[in-house]
This record gives sequence, structure tokens and C-alpha cells, in this order.
Amino acid sequence: MSSSVVQSQETDISDVLVQLIAGQEQVFLRRQPRSTELIAQAREHLAGGATSNWQIAEPQAVWMSHGNGSKVYDVDGNEYVDMHGGYGASIAGHAHPAIVAAVSDRVRRGTHFAQPTEDAIWIAGELSRRFGLPLWRFANSGTEATMDAVHLARALTGRDLIIKVEGCYHGHHDSVQVSVLPDADEIGPRDHPIGVPGNSGIASAIRDLVIVVPFNDPDAVARALAEHRGQVAAMILEPVMMNAGIIPPDDGYLAAIRDLVHAEGALLIFDEVKTGFTTGPGGVTALTGVVPDMVCLAKALGGGIAVAAIGGTSTVMSAIADGRYEQVGTFNGNPLSMAATRATLTDVLTPQAYTHLEALANRLRTSLEAVIAQHGFGWQVVTVGAKGCVTFRRDPVREFRDFLQIDARLGHLHWLMQHNGGVFLPPWGKVEQWLLSVQHDEDDVDRFATNFARFSATLSRFGPGAVAP
Ligand SMILES: Cc1ncc(COP(=O)(O)O)c(C=O)c1O
Repeated sequence: MSSSVVQSQETDISDVLVQLIAGQEQVFLRRQPRSTELIAQAREHLAGGATSNWQIAEPQAVWMSHGNGSKVYDVDGNEYVDMHGGYGASIAGHAHPAIVAAVSDRVRRGTHFAQPTEDAIWIAGELSRRFGLPLWRFANSGTEATMDAVHLARALTGRDLIIKVEGCYHGHHDSVQVSVLPDADEIGPRDHPIGVPGNSGIASAIRDLVIVVPFNDPDAVARALAEHRGQVAAMILEPVMMNAGIIPPDDGYLAAIRDLVHAEGALLIFDEVKTGFTTGPGGVTALTGVVPDMVCLAKALGGGIAVAAIGGTSTVMSAIADGRYEQVGTFNGNPLSMAATRATLTDVLTPQAYTHLEALANRLRTSLEAVIAQHGFGWQVVTVGAKGCVTFRRDPVREFRDFLQIDARLGHLHWLMQHNGGVFLPPWGKVEQWLLSVQHDEDDVDRFATNFARFSATLSRFGPGAVAP
């Protein structure tokens, strides 16, 4: 860095961050020449040179070779502690012996019949035990699960409107692609947020069926219900928001909104696609005891194989049982995903595994808080089970509008410094940070803490006031 960067409270952190990010991006690119080559090749026939837009990072996507235990390896041979966790899915770590055995056995005996296999019965029973909802169906992605849940709510109530929380992500189907990650200048007033399309291609007629409310505000839900009396089919939310950093619910919030929607004849849907097994064995549903009408699961459920599930009350799921709603899919409950899921629930997500995850989360949290205190940054460390993040802000984040105030460049610089220091995290660093797996150990979380200390020391030269609003 140039000596002209003045080390004082008054330093313009914008210039400093731009310089630091540019330097780290150079290091990043020097370490990954093979990824650069593959991206150039891929662009010929893979749109955008990747298989999902979320795989594209700045300065470039990281192409992977393999994973084992808590580690992943890129095509240049660099090893990383994997705390990206495949966007909240890889709680089993990589190549977990129980999942390898179950999947290998199933592959030899056929992976697709479009007919149920016995594992599905055991899994439905186990999910019922963990989440307190009696009836289940399977699908292949979180998007499908929340799509079925919204359809079911509309089918059961005969109503069209959905209440959705600003900043929650529920997958990429039309009914929920509203106000996912809108910009500050698009969102409108807090008491009547504007429904901002979360992608192109979303018909305005569908967007108009979504009423957006802030998180952690039961009064806003009451108001939305009153303003659309008799028209709301359901409210859908992540019971702990995990696509805008991590935003836990206030005490009593989930129970309050359940009572409000029920009083108006509407249903409550918990999207536990991300929280389902990362926060505990029965997700936020079991942690809080607030059992909604429907729970959506995916990600960690299959231990690394694509699978999703929708659970519901007898009343809700009767619409499937009697054919009023056709819940379908060629690969639903396919034997491969069922074998992986059964192994995950039996051998991976055990009570001992959650004790291990909690100990690691506490160790990491203690280390990070010590570094933050040392530099006087006042940032928040938020951990819920195996998921966690550092919020680069002095005040706790209670809703999406608080999250918008965080300087995204701090997250990106942190991501780059973790990456160059051998810890793999979700790109950009602001929306999502870490997931621990059952195969992580103390050395793994200590590597994260060491990189974090280096990142903090780099910033501390500019004074605590410069880096935390
Ligand atoms: C809370 C939540 N719901 C739904 C989804 C969609 O899941 P999928 O990407 O499997 O379709 C995601 C994905 O990140 C999610 O975080």
C-alpha cells in the first residue's frame, strides 16, 4: 500500500478498501491460473462460464477438483478449509464415510424407478419426529419445496396473496422472487415496502400478489393482514434470516406472527431450507417450539445429494392425500437421494454431532470476539448452531434495512483474505459467511480466526471509527 495512505481516524476508508481489495484480487488470481484457463474454455459452451450465476465471484469463479473431510481442493491444487459449505448444504463435510457407503450401495442397485422405496417411509417418520409435523413429501431443491408450499397454501385457502419478509430468499420461482436483495433506493417506505422483482422475467401480475413486510415486526404483519382481509393465503419466511447475514428472530416474534396469520385464516410457512439442520436437529421449529403449518427443507438434508422435503399438518397435507393438490416430480423421492438422506439423518446429524458443532462454534466465536475487542471495532459475531457470520456494524441487525447499511466492500475484502489464507467461504462475504461441518476440527476454525486477525489488523491501522458505521 502506498505511504500516502494516512493512518488516522479521518482516513477515507473508501480509497483504502479499493486498494486493499485490488491487492488481494491480484494474489487470488496468481494462485489460480488453471481456473482462469477453464473459465476461458467454459465460456465457449457454458453460458457465462459457470453452472449457476452464484458460482461467479470477483475476480473470478473458483473451479474445484475434489473435497475430503473438512477440506476442498481447487483445480490449481490449493487446499482450503471449506466453510462455504455449498451455500449451507455441506454440514456432513465431504465424502463422509456413511454417505459414501449408502450412496455406493444404492448406485449398484439402481437409482431411479419413479416409484417409492422403503427409505422414504423411514425418513418421513424421522422428519416428523424432529419437526413435529406428521406428513411429508419429497422434491429435489429448496425452490421446489417452497413452490409446493405456496401452491398448497393457495389451494387450501382459495386465496392468492402471500406475505413475504423483505430480504428473505426462498428460491427462484416467481411467487417468492420479490424483495430478496433489493437496493436501498428501490425499497420504498418501511411501513409499506415496495415489492422489488428479485430477477428479470418475473411477471408483474405475480409480483403484485406478494405483500412485503419487515422482519421482526408483528405489527407490520397485523397491518398487512388487515389491509388485505380475507385475501392472504400464507406468510412465508426464514425463521432465522440467513440470506442477509444472519438475523435471529426477537423473542416471541415467531409465535406472534403464527397467531396473527391463523386469526385471519391464513397459513404459516417456515422456509427451513438453510436453517433446517444447521441450527439444530429439528431446525428453528424444534428450537423455538413454534410449529408452523408447513416446513420446507433441502440443502443439508441429503448430505450433499440434491433432495428437498415439505412437511405439513394433517389438514394441509390432506390436500395432497386426496388429490386436491398434485405434488409431483419425476425424481421426487428417488432412491439415491433417499439413501443419502437416511444415512445423513442416521449417522451424520446425531446428538453428538451437534455437541461437536456447538463446541467449535463457541471456540470460533470467542476468538473472533477477542480480536474485535482488541481493535475496538464493535462488530457483531452472530452464531446460530453451525452457521455464523461477523456483521461489520456496531448495532445488531434486526431486519434487512439494517443489513443494507453495511459496507459490502468489508465483506468482500474479508472473503478475499480468508480465501488467500486457505479458508473457502461464499463469495462477496456480506450475504453469507460460514457453515461448520461435522468433520471440522479446532485447527480448521483456528485457521479462520488467524485470517480474521490478519484482516482486522490490516484495517485497524485506519482507526476503529473508520470501519464500522
Ligand atoms: C432459505 C432458502 N430457501 C430456498 C432456497 C432455494 O434452494 P435451492 O437453491 O435448492 O433451490 C435457498 C437457497 O439458497 C435458501 O437459502
